[in-house]
Amino acid sequence: MIRSVSIRALRQATPLLRVVPAAAAVGASRGIHATPAAHSHYNDPASSATPAPPPKTLMDINKLYRNNTPITVLTAHDYISSKIANAAGVDIILVGDSLSMVALGYTNTNEIELDDMIHHARAVRRGSPQAFIVADLPFGSYEVSTEQALAAAFRMVKRAGVDAIKFEGGKENAGLVRHMSQRGIPVMGHIGLTPQRASSLGGFKVQGKTAATAELILEDALALQEAGCFSMVLEAVPAPVADLVTKQLRVPTIGIGAGPHTSGQVLVQLDMLGGFDGFTPKFLKKYSNYLDINTKACAAYVDEVRAGTFPEIGTHTYAIKDAELNKFKQLVAEKFPADSTKA
Ligand code: KIV
Repeated sequence: MIRSVSIRALRQATPLLRVVPAAAAVGASRGIHATPAAHSHYNDPASSATPAPPPKTLMDINKLYRNNTPITVLTAHDYISSKIANAAGVDIILVGDSLSMVALGYTNTNEIELDDMIHHARAVRRGSPQAFIVADLPFGSYEVSTEQALAAAFRMVKRAGVDAIKFEGGKENAGLVRHMSQRGIPVMGHIGLTPQRASSLGGFKVQGKTAATAELILEDALALQEAGCFSMVLEAVPAPVADLVTKQLRVPTIGIGAGPHTSGQVLVQLDMLGGFDGFTPKFLKKYSNYLDINTKACAAYVDEVRAGTFPEIGTHTYAIKDAELNKFKQLVAEKFPADSTKA
């Protein structure tokens, strides 16, 4: 709790750490259309009269857990997906390294670099100035040494203004978790299926399907909890195993492919919106058909431009006073006498 407060307090007190311009933060609203972006497409940057909600903190997450209220987590990878997740009312926005595959088109999550993650996390923060945002440390940015991991985590927090860090792995990461959490960076763990290690796991496979491997997951969970994780993702684990592990912990588990008895759920936004067609894991429920809907919308635009029905004069065009237009016409006619007949 205190750790989260310290990051938030730092962000508010230290101009360097404050990634969101004050005006944007003041104008922030939960409605995605309510707050025009400061320099958005020719709109009036009129400020919203709605006061910004207070920033979400670790205390809000802990309260949900204490009250047995399921914790909702969705990924966001850019400004607009951040606004959508926030407007939908999620409790935590995760800038997951799934970004690598679903938004950047890499073949796995290991190709993305720390700087890419920071670049996207900054956009997510701009989209949701008041949200509780957790960002992944990507493969190779934290495993070499404690120094490397701390440097990566501090860079992410300072540059992107996220509230917490997530990285994959179990008991072998206990020392790192302790270092970070003792230095004021809240850590979310990630155990079960850890996609960054898919190669050594033999692929994207369900974990904990035997008593012995389920016990390893429980050991990992307890070690991460003891080290100071404020929560942990449990990925692709049989539902009864996730249930038993969750019951042994005093920090929330966030499940993905782990059944309904974890303390919360996370999905990759582009997956659940139907925006990624690379593959569909068994646990995924698609709540929209993003690719289809948006392809149809884009095709309608292409058709209308070709048919000359978009843009419509008056509806999508800017006016000019007759007097000014006539003056301009005259000016053109004088400058280009041969072309003046075109009009
Ligand atoms: O990278 C990611 O989006 C994640 C979630 C699937 C938990 O780690």
